[in-house]
Amino acid sequence: MTRIFSGVKPTGHLTLGNYLGAVRQWVAADQEPDEALFCVVDLHALTVEHEPARLRRLSRQAATLLLASGLDPERCTLFVQSHVDEHTRLAYLLECTATDGELRRMIQYKEKAANAQAAGDGVRLSLLTYPVLMAADILAYGTQEVPVGEDQRQHVELTRDLAVRFNQRYGHTFTVPRATHPAVAARVMDLQDPTSKMGKSHESGAGIVYLLDEPEVVRKKVMRAVTDSGDGGVVYDREARPGVANLLDVLAACTGGEPGELAGGYQGYGSLKRDVADAVVELLRPVRERHAELAADPAEVERVLRAGAGRARELARPVVDRAYAAIGLLGR
Ligand code: AMP
Ligand code: TRP
Repeated sequence: MTRIFSGVKPTGHLTLGNYLGAVRQWVAADQEPDEALFCVVDLHALTVEHEPARLRRLSRQAATLLLASGLDPERCTLFVQSHVDEHTRLAYLLECTATDGELRRMIQYKEKAANAQAAGDGVRLSLLTYPVLMAADILAYGTQEVPVGEDQRQHVELTRDLAVRFNQRYGHTFTVPRATHPAVAARVMDLQDPTSKMGKSHESGAGIVYLLDEPEVVRKKVMRAVTDSGDGGVVYDREARPGVANLLDVLAACTGGEPGELAGGYQGYGSLKRDVADAVVELLRPVRERHAELAADPAEVERVLRAGAGRARELARPVVDRAYAAIGLLGR
């Protein structure tokens, strides 16, 4: 039985990138006889400017959307990070394992710190230590596999390094996890700026497909996607034609084909975009419909989250207690 853990930050509305890069893999894992935990990592949303009421709304919405995407609370554990104290308890021990230099090298830290500075906001200290909290999220559960998009590769590498270092210094305590990525669409790009990742927040949402966008909005965003000039028809070339490659990746992820082969079936960009739009609308339709039903019964979502936190606590507690003992702290 494989132990699986992954999380999503409630910093904005969930996107097609979240769905194809991560959530769809979670739903697939949830069908196997694995012990899988999925977490709305709300503490991570506090690392950048935030608004308390919006965070509450987005946390509820993220949990509701994960259920709407097909996670079955009978088969996996769905919970909110801040409901389980073990994450922050373990993070401190891992802060005593990680080095300052190691954290300053994280690509996401450098990017986000630069953004915060450009906006005139201070860089929160938690933005620097964030990957350590993420490592605690993963290691607290004896996780073996972490299904994530490509952008999280470096953070999972750091998690592995910390686990190995802790084990070497203090004796075997943590399972060393590995990241898993989807075969296609591990990095869905912004439709308006195909050289940057489709993230939850961009000044204009024009290049981002949100899971709850109306079908007409999805169509418009896809039809207006930036493609590349150049002749030679539709070819799959991520370097030279990032816009078209991104559309082919999304199509492949939705329909199950292979992006290079799908390219051969198109003469022009117009028909490709129409097919992508149709495929995405169909992919998201059941998610939107189920979300509407679940959102009408917030008490049920809350019940699922409460039960999930109880189960998560049971699993994390002994692992974190072991780490406290191994590092030399007296038992309580
Ligand atoms: P985040 O929204 O940063 O909390 O990401 C939650 C999960 O979605 C992580 O596993 C990310 O790697 C994944 N993810 C986010 N954006 C994308 C994207 N544009 N393409 C593929 N995966 C993504
Ligand atoms: N850092 C991840 C992201 O930005 C979210 C995350 C937090 C996570 N803790 C995690 C993902 C643990 C996997 C496992 O997407």
